Amino acid sequence: MKTETTINGVRAALRTARTAGQSIAMVPTMGNLHEGHITLVKAAKRRADIVVASIFVNPTQFGANEDFDKYPRTLSADSALLADASCDIVFAPEAREMYPDGRQQNTSVHVSGITEMLCGLSRPGHFSGVATVVSKLFNIVQPDMALFGEKDYQQLAVIRRFARELCFPVDVIGVPTVRADDGLALSSRNGFLSAQERALAPQIFSTLSSLRAAIENGQRDYAMLTAAANAHLAKCGFVPEYLEVRSQDLEPARAEDTALVILVAARLGTTRLIDNLPFELS
Ligand code: PAJ
Repeated sequence: MKTETTINGVRAALRTARTAGQSIAMVPTMGNLHEGHITLVKAAKRRADIVVASIFVNPTQFGANEDFDKYPRTLSADSALLADASCDIVFAPEAREMYPDGRQQNTSVHVSGITEMLCGLSRPGHFSGVATVVSKLFNIVQPDMALFGEKDYQQLAVIRRFARELCFPVDVIGVPTVRADDGLALSSRNGFLSAQERALAPQIFSTLSSLRAAIENGQRDYAMLTAAANAHLAKCGFVPEYLEVRSQDLEPARAEDTALVILVAARLGTTRLIDNLPFELS
């Protein structure tokens, strides 16, 4: 496995593969890798000849009061996990390589509509930061395909949207959420939880699962169902930010919709957790 820290370096490393007609898959990450990320790398390896994983804690997607400074940076442990998963190239640039003119660059990618709901309401600018850095990574690596987790459901929808609307020749592939045995979605931010908070955290997934069961049993009063689920989370000690039933294209769910997703964001102490559960009604 090669590690490249410059744009020219990663492009040069890919030149031979590209001219030999090998397919290239990319897995963008912010590092501090866990089994969720590694599942994306393994899925990429099954689909393409060459896998490039990027590790870059992207400053432009963090708000002023968010956890950019304390976001865990664990490059050597991450590299060992990636090598084990048969990743071919790690692209781990410094901020000045990605943003040579500083983070306030004049060009950004803003996806309207879909970013003005759910996480977009409490994290203004977050999805523009994500869309901008993923556009840059697509242009640097020029992969045939890129894999993203359904764990960040709204992020995946934003990336699919700009890739289609800006005609990126990249197949955007979603991979189901990887969970701990107790249901908690794996996340780099789980490391911020105290032992007591970690014991409570699976309530998020069990709340989503109960809500899905109620809907599968024919209940359709989504406002009432989500209010009860919110109250349950609050009683457990969470500060819920949103909990909503939506159609899988993120429109508010109507009674006749059958492809649904329940999305939640909640704080536990100082840690903000998100999760979602997509499902189909038969
Ligand atoms: P990061 O949080 O490091 O996640 C990198 C990728 O791993 C994303 O596609 C995310 O959805 C996926 N992922 C995280 N936890 C997962 C889990 N439990 N199961 C499956 N996939 C999971 O998301 C980002 O970084 C950044 O916003 C990024 C896209 C890299 C842009 O900076």
